[in-house]
Amino acid sequence: MKILITRTIKSALLDNIPKEFEVVMWKEEDSPMPRAELLREIEDADAVFTNVSDQIDFEVFERAKNLKVVGTMAVGFDNINVQEATKRGILVGHTPDVLSEAVAELALALMFATARRVVEGMNYIHQNQWESWGPYLFAGQKISGKKLGIIGMGRIGKILAKMARGINMEVLYSNRRRDEQTEAELNVDYRDLESLLKESDYVVMLAPATPETYHMLGYEQFALMKPTSIFVNVSRGSTVNEDDLYKILSEKKIFAAGLDVFEVEPIKNNHPLLTLDNVIAVPHIGSATVDTRDKMVEITLNNILRGLKGERLLHTVNKEVYELSTRK
Ligand code: GLV
Ligand code: GLV
Repeated sequence: MKILITRTIKSALLDNIPKEFEVVMWKEEDSPMPRAELLREIEDADAVFTNVSDQIDFEVFERAKNLKVVGTMAVGFDNINVQEATKRGILVGHTPDVLSEAVAELALALMFATARRVVEGMNYIHQNQWESWGPYLFAGQKISGKKLGIIGMGRIGKILAKMARGINMEVLYSNRRRDEQTEAELNVDYRDLESLLKESDYVVMLAPATPETYHMLGYEQFALMKPTSIFVNVSRGSTVNEDDLYKILSEKKIFAAGLDVFEVEPIKNNHPLLTLDNVIAVPHIGSATVDTRDKMVEITLNNILRGLKGERLLHTVNKEVYELSTRK
């Protein structure tokens, strides 16, 4: 059986793949496997080890004659046509939980960096502009005692809420469904989206990319935020209308934005958002700590090997497949 790995994964864990499996791994370290190569290699692959930068869409499934498992090294799976996989009895596995703390930490990092203007301050020093201490030099926003509004209260949101409570923030959340147990456990309060945007000093987007969340924040929504408030996105770029975010930021109707994700990735340095001093942008690194990425590789491999042996994956996106008799 053939396992296709679409990025160079440098990990000793790959040595644990039993010898009976043929492993085909993309060898150029700094780039993803080109689409044409993926379409060719998928034809006889039994499993694919993928990630957020591959589109595992209808065309890929059409080509794949032997595919049994898709393992994505991510929690999000909006780049995979899961419905199509399910129809064909192909399991889709992902890596939730192990990355929740890392992503929550990056949300905090972007909150702190934007609030305290860390990158602007560094650029100022680099450009040799610092001549004296100033009473309001790079005065930013306080975090302790302020209100955090979390959009999408899932695994990551709960951990972020706990961390935020630890620095004495009040925490609000909005979600498709109200979750009274979490409210009681974490001392957080539910708000509809509009109230959350109005009241929060920090708004962190954690809702997954779905048709329902597409552009859920546009000009009208951002305009509800306070001029001192900060927006952070560590989920998916498609949840936000970037033209509108640019407009709001350049009109100074919100204080700053910290962005890990973009509508089109990689974002190019001529993107309007990157011309603004009050935007801090990082390249989709929410889960990028060495220990977290090690665990994500481990779980993805495990998902794939289990799937190929006909066992249940550690984390399955489309559990319906287990009930289907069509499963190969
Ligand atoms: C990364 O964006 C992920 O979904 O894990
Ligand atoms: C600032 O450096 C202070 O001592 O308040």
